[in-house]
Amino acid sequence: MNRLTEFQLSQDEFDKLRKLIHKKAGISMSDAKRSLVAGRLRKRLVALNLSSYEEYFQALKKDETSGNGEMQRFIDLLTTNETWFFREERHFEYLSEFLSEQPKAKSINIWSAASSSGEEAYSIAMTLAEEMGVTSPWNILGTDISSQILSKAKKGIYMKSKVKGLSNPMKRKYMMNGVREYEDYLAVVPELKKKIKFLPFNLITSPLPTVKFDIIFCRNVLIYFNQQHKKEVIQRLASCLKVGGYFFPGHSESLHGLYDELKSVAPSIYQKTRAS
Ligand SMILES: C[S@@+](CC[C@H](N)C(=O)[O-])C[C@H]1O[C@@H](n2cnc3c(N)ncnc32)[C@H](O)[C@@H]1O
Repeated sequence: MNRLTEFQLSQDEFDKLRKLIHKKAGISMSDAKRSLVAGRLRKRLVALNLSSYEEYFQALKKDETSGNGEMQRFIDLLTTNETWFFREERHFEYLSEFLSEQPKAKSINIWSAASSSGEEAYSIAMTLAEEMGVTSPWNILGTDISSQILSKAKKGIYMKSKVKGLSNPMKRKYMMNGVREYEDYLAVVPELKKKIKFLPFNLITSPLPTVKFDIIFCRNVLIYFNQQHKKEVIQRLASCLKVGGYFFPGHSESLHGLYDELKSVAPSIYQKTRAS
């Protein structure tokens, strides 16, 4: 039998693995995710020459003390990284309006707090470049828990056929066409790349940055957390916002009843009203 198809994930093994991803990343997984988990982790059983998911779980427990990187691979495999340029574009229109009211010399800090492969952070950078100019004093922080996806974000190189949401004028201005072995790719121009710092960050456990932000994007990640974690993450991120600053969750992620100091000012747009 093909090794990739021979493994069965029992309910007990699934429970152990979902408890672990919940502990490490805050991600809650319903019973419906059992076959997804089995499918995504199967390759690791083969690569490590293991015969069951229980053995894989034991290897992960060992990694908690020895730290050989398997835990990070486990997190990388169980996170969902779907994203695209200018996703949920109303946020970018609001960002443009906000920027058009700011003095050009004002220093602006924006955080893309679950940046995935970088499309969100680069879309923010393009919007800032359009409104403020590339050389104005703005900076973007892009963070994610997945090290694999962050290395893609840092490269800023995307397959042309998979680039979604980016208009032709934006492509012409802010992307370079690859040559030779990169002819099927687009690369973000260096002037934009250098305005963004990509760093690993766990929304639940990492120490918070000391800088205060004008806007924090934390989109399409809260849906993976339970109410308690959602609340904690919102509270933690809100403490990093300037008073008057904005918080952008994904369009399907309401903050209703989760944090009083963030006031709803437009659909999926919240403003911090007082110091926390
Ligand atoms: C679906 S993507 C959203 C990307 C982007 N914000 C967007 O809306 O297009 C969710 C991202 O959240 C990250 N993530 C999941 N749990 C996390 C955690 N505890 N801390 C930081 N990032 C996390 C995943 O690695 C993934 O890249």
